[in-house]
Amino acid sequence: MSLSVSLTSLPPKPPLFLPLLLLLLLLPTTAEAATVTANATLPPSPSPTASPTPPTTKTPSPSIHSTLDPKQLRALQSLDIPTAKDPCSQPSPHNATICDSSSPFRHLVSLHLSNCSSDLSLSYTALKSLSTLQSLSFTNCPVTPIRFPLDLALSLRSFTCIHSLKHLTGVGLAHFVNLTDLTVSNVPVNTSGLYVVLGNMHKLRSVTISNANVTGYIPKHLLFNLTHIDFSGNGLKGRIPSSITLLENLESLNLSSNALTGGIPSNFGDLISLKNVSLGSNSLSGAIPDSISAIPDLAHVDLSSNQLNGTIPKFFAEMKNLRYLNLGNNEFHGVLPFNLTFMKRLAVFKVGGNSNLCYNHTILSSKLKLGIAPCDKHGLPLSPPPAKDDSSGDDSGSDSSDYDDESDDSSSKKEGHHGPNKVVLGVAIALSSIVFLIVFLILLKRCG
Ligand SMILES: *[C@@H]1O[C@H](CO)[C@@H](O)[C@H](O)[C@H]1NC(C)=O
Ligand SMILES: *[C@@H]1O[C@H](CO)[C@@H](O)[C@H](O)[C@H]1NC(C)=O
Ligand SMILES: *[C@@H]1O[C@H](CO)[C@@H](O)[C@H](O)[C@H]1NC(C)=O
Ligand SMILES: *[C@@H]1O[C@H](CO)[C@@H](O)[C@H](O)[C@H]1NC(C)=O
Ligand SMILES: *[C@@H]1O[C@H](CO)[C@@H](O)[C@H](O)[C@H]1NC(C)=O
Ligand SMILES: *[C@@H]1O[C@H](CO)[C@@H](O)[C@H](O)[C@H]1NC(C)=O
Ligand SMILES: *[C@@H]1O[C@H](CO)[C@@H](O)[C@H](O)[C@H]1NC(C)=O
Ligand SMILES: *[C@@H]1O[C@H](CO)[C@@H](O)[C@H](O)[C@H]1NC(C)=O
Ligand SMILES: *[C@@H]1O[C@H](CO)[C@@H](O)[C@H](O)[C@H]1NC(C)=O
Ligand SMILES: *[C@@H]1O[C@H](CO)[C@@H](O)[C@H](O)[C@H]1NC(C)=O
Ligand SMILES: *[C@@H]1O[C@H](CO)[C@@H](O)[C@H](O)[C@H]1NC(C)=O
Ligand SMILES: *[C@@H]1O[C@H](CO)[C@@H](O)[C@H](O)[C@H]1NC(C)=O
Repeated sequence: MSLSVSLTSLPPKPPLFLPLLLLLLLLPTTAEAATVTANATLPPSPSPTASPTPPTTKTPSPSIHSTLDPKQLRALQSLDIPTAKDPCSQPSPHNATICDSSSPFRHLVSLHLSNCSSDLSLSYTALKSLSTLQSLSFTNCPVTPIRFPLDLALSLRSFTCIHSLKHLTGVGLAHFVNLTDLTVSNVPVNTSGLYVVLGNMHKLRSVTISNANVTGYIPKHLLFNLTHIDFSGNGLKGRIPSSITLLENLESLNLSSNALTGGIPSNFGDLISLKNVSLGSNSLSGAIPDSISAIPDLAHVDLSSNQLNGTIPKFFAEMKNLRYLNLGNNEFHGVLPFNLTFMKRLAVFKVGGNSNLCYNHTILSSKLKLGIAPCDKHGLPLSPPPAKDDSSGDDSGSDSSDYDDESDDSSSKKEGHHGPNKVVLGVAIALSSIVFLIVFLILLKRCG
């Protein structure tokens, strides 16, 4: 702000017209920007160097060769991004801003907003001036969403919205047709189905729409070259379409915590690039398809908390990269086909919560606490399986016990009163009986 005062007091010479105009443009927002910039005394550096006949002798930081487009600079200030330092200088804090190298003005190609203040507001004008962005991300920015300008929607390659923007619409997201990466997580998306969002994104490689309150079916025509799919934590229903197995570049598939039914497609093993798969916490039934044995690089398999049945296939033991196997809380039966060597190789191994599954106690020790019973000689569980231990649950971590506190407290207090009272009463009765007996004996002796 000290700078703006000194500059406006300069004699208005013609060559100064451009920088002055620039500064005037900035003036309405500098005060606002100063409130979020810790060191407001730092001179705003961007303005002078871009001018053809710059008064460079007066600039405090001549090291900057090119600066941000003033319209975009204003847009950043309206988004509370500190601009005291040139946003195009690298590295910017948390890589919040990245610019191209065009001249005379540079343009933003990447903007990452995180932990925004709650009184921040997006303006259509600001967003429109940012239509050079290829990557835009919001993390923990609970600002009120607005319609995205079409220019911006078309220029974006990557869009991320995590716990931000309060809510999104499927129709709005569908305009982002040039995206290769879409991440929407912990934001409700109002849409009649995933196909509305994804139908026109032909370049998409990676998509996450998780914890977004999306219902409906998984689209049958996922006709893109996807490598990552995460639709976890929604209300998706129906079967996993067998057409999903056409995605031969797919490396990770996460459909956990939905309401999917039916079997795992029998040709699931066609997903030959798959490394991580989570189908946990759905209502899937039937057996694990044998075709899965053909997937060479599986590292993470979570099929927990479904109604899968049949025997557990031996082929998991042959998978060299497997590190995580959770088959807990299903309806598998028969003898667990694994030995200790295999289990020790894994970071996570869970089979608890399968009441008809058992382990061969000549091969495996009960100390492993697998959460299943040992087998008899016919391969049936010997005793009722041990009480479900905590570690056998699925890993979705979605359970909330927030509501238990109060009732627990009061009831445990009541119980607490009963317990000690009975003990005290018993001890008192015992003691008084002994005293009574002694007195009685003494009296008896004196009388006798
Ligand atoms: C503000 O200035 C102080 C001391 O000059 C420095 O340590 C601090 O990192 C600066 N903060 C910002 C946000 O630039
Ligand atoms: C910033 O981006 C560079 C290059 O993409 C990367 O190497 C670096 O780790 C990033 N820094 C932060 C703090 O994210
Ligand atoms: C945002 O806040 C979280 C938690 O308060 C912190 O871990 C993270 O580093 C912050 N991110 C940025 C870019 O400031
Ligand atoms: C994005 O998509 C639109 C419409 O499909 C297309 O016209 C445009 O050339 C694409 N690329 C960019 C950078 O906007
Ligand atoms: C989730 O979707 C249902 C309808 O499908 C709607 O009634 C509800 O309000 C949505 N929840 C949130 C948090 O948006
Ligand atoms: C969701 O979209 C429908 C149709 O566009 C609209 O009628 C409804 O009000 C929206 N619901 C929410 C919670 O935004
Ligand atoms: C799909 O992606 C792979 C690897 O990224 C690439 O080699 C291939 O050309 C892409 N195919 C299409 C049709 O885009
Ligand atoms: C497994 O479940 C399927 C579908 O629920 C059922 O048809 C089949 O009979 C079951 N198989 C066994 C061995 O329990
Ligand atoms: C895949 O699973 C491995 C092993 O559990 C894990 O370390 C890795 O982060 C996962 N990758 C993705 C993309 O989920
Ligand atoms: C454990 O099982 C694997 C795969 O079935 C086998 O190769 C290995 O020899 C077994 N190890 C022991 C100690 O039995
Ligand atoms: C348990 O393992 C032993 C030794 O490998 C084998 O002889 C026995 O048949 C197995 N029991 C069951 C029920 O599979
Ligand atoms: C799938 O998503 C859930 C919840 O979003 C997460 O906890 C889990 O780690 C993910 N699994 C994989 C394989 O990425």
